[in-house]
Amino acid sequence: MGAGIIGIGRYLPEKILTNADLEKIVDTSDEWIRTRTGIEERRIAADDVNTSDMAYGAAKKAIENAGISATDLDMILVATVTPDRPFPTVACMLQEKLGAVNAAAMDISAACAGFMYGIVTAKQFIESGVYKNVLVIGVEKLSKITDWDDRNTAVLFGDGAGAVVVGNVSEGRGILSFELGADGTGGKHLYQDEFIIMNGREVFKFAVRQMGESCLNVLDKAGLTKEDVDFLIPHQANIRIMEAARQRLELPPEKMSKTVNKYGNTSAASIPISIVEELEAGKIKDDDLIVMVGFGGGLTWGAIAIRWGR
Ligand code: UT7
Repeated sequence: MGAGIIGIGRYLPEKILTNADLEKIVDTSDEWIRTRTGIEERRIAADDVNTSDMAYGAAKKAIENAGISATDLDMILVATVTPDRPFPTVACMLQEKLGAVNAAAMDISAACAGFMYGIVTAKQFIESGVYKNVLVIGVEKLSKITDWDDRNTAVLFGDGAGAVVVGNVSEGRGILSFELGADGTGGKHLYQDEFIIMNGREVFKFAVRQMGESCLNVLDKAGLTKEDVDFLIPHQANIRIMEAARQRLELPPEKMSKTVNKYGNTSAASIPISIVEELEAGKIKDDDLIVMVGFGGGLTWGAIAIRWGR
């Protein structure tokens, strides 16, 4: 039996920040943001809603959706670069909130590729037979590390959480292959000092190259080709970067997830939020071959090929 996704959930803050709202904060325009990034609006968490609260909202739904209870969880992995505090980890805070008394818990820090790192880690524990249910969450409150005076970054990011339960799935389904990678020499292009600092053009070039490569690599490792792909879920950073990955796989536009317009770049949360969105929209069906791919600060990247279904 393989390891696959057996439960999903997401949490998005209610408050919407539109491009028109941003025009009043920094020297920008709705037109610039739409054409350069594809973003129309993003969600911003209230002051009293922290990363662990959003993680809890998404986790509760994923556990329920998997048809298990919190005590069935063997491990909690939280991918985030915006924890409530350095320690205890968000994963430990969540373990208490959920009453997941049997679960080991730790955070994973791999920026926007964090969810990919989390899901691949979960896969190892499931496939080795050591654990049965691993909760993997991508969650960010990027609004608290955003410099609202810097138009280069202020227009890009949003808050939110997505969660999945990784467990055993039937033969032929689940995660077929993966790739994880890092290039520390590119760390200078995207990092947090007090706020997020980014060399957009360098990150853009890296992302366009890496997303396409990683997609093709996981297909190759699974003995598949781009013709086999039913749906692509790329990290939702910028529509132009996503489009480059889609074109590399020669997929029509309707076969790629696009949530960046509504939620902006939610870093580690963007892929799991998109999974929920696309399932609810009926775009993902059992036995579909889905490629998920992420990249981010570090620099880091990760991709999986997954045959959907339990
Ligand atoms: O999850 C990973 C995180 N990061 C990313 O994925 C970011 C990857 N990079 C990008 O998405 C793009 O590089 C950006 C969207 C950040 C920028 O787009 P770009 O097409 O690379 O623009 P640019 O940085 O080359 O800037 C073009 C112009 C500049 O003006 P000048 O120098 O040509 O006069 C900028 O100052 O656009 C200006 N600019 C803006 N104008 C209006 C930069 N930000 C803004 C803004 N509003 N918000």
